[in-house]
Amino acid sequence: MQISIRHEIPIDINEIHALEAQAFGRRLQADLVNDLRDDGALWLSQVALIDDRIVGHAAYSLAEVSHDANIWRFPALGPIAVAPANQRQGIGGALIRAGIEVVGDAGFGLLFLVGHPGYYTRFGFQPAVPLGFSSNWVKPGGSHEHFMALVLDQSLIGCVSGHMRFHGAFPDP
Ligand SMILES: CC(C)(COP(=O)(O)OP(=O)(O)OC[C@H]1O[C@@H](n2cnc3c(N)ncnc32)[C@H](O)[C@@H]1OP(=O)(O)O)[C@@H](O)C(=O)NCCC(=O)NCCS
Repeated sequence: MQISIRHEIPIDINEIHALEAQAFGRRLQADLVNDLRDDGALWLSQVALIDDRIVGHAAYSLAEVSHDANIWRFPALGPIAVAPANQRQGIGGALIRAGIEVVGDAGFGLLFLVGHPGYYTRFGFQPAVPLGFSSNWVKPGGSHEHFMALVLDQSLIGCVSGHMRFHGAFPDP
């Protein structure tokens, strides 16, 4: 099975929407991708293809980390989706690795996400709270392991910290 990964092109848009809706079983994430695109906030959008058919998609937008008067911007991964019939074949992993490469090449030292820790730790993501970050996706006294960061530049840890906010198109948690 030959998987190829490339940036989205305009004719992919409807297929991406259908794939996201099918994978999540609802339109929320699919509509979010469209909203990000319409806002010019889809920083990176990659598709995975088998025989020219889109079987996976990953979206990245810029999140804001703020601490007092300091504001930094870093990419955040999500949503990511693989067609149900093609899951557990390494497509999600291939998409994530390809995205990490683009993020690193762009010079970013951190990549955030909110997702299942059991899946993302294999790519190097770790809980972001112990690194000094907070998020509305972490409730006081609740679990926090789903709010994760991939550290591509260790020198940032301790220098950059604060509250991470996804782009405004994301729904409230
Ligand atoms: C999550 C998703 C993108 C993974 O894509 P994929 O192509 O199936 O993933 P891969 O083939 O690279 O990896 C499969 C592994 O991930 C694990 N995995 C998949 N979804 C997982 C989840 N929600 N929690 C924990 N592990 C998960 C599988 O158990 C499998 O583990 P194994 O290799 O030990 O058997 C895909 O399952 C999907 O689209 N899910 C529905 C939408 C969704 O939940 N998106 C992510 C929101 S955080």
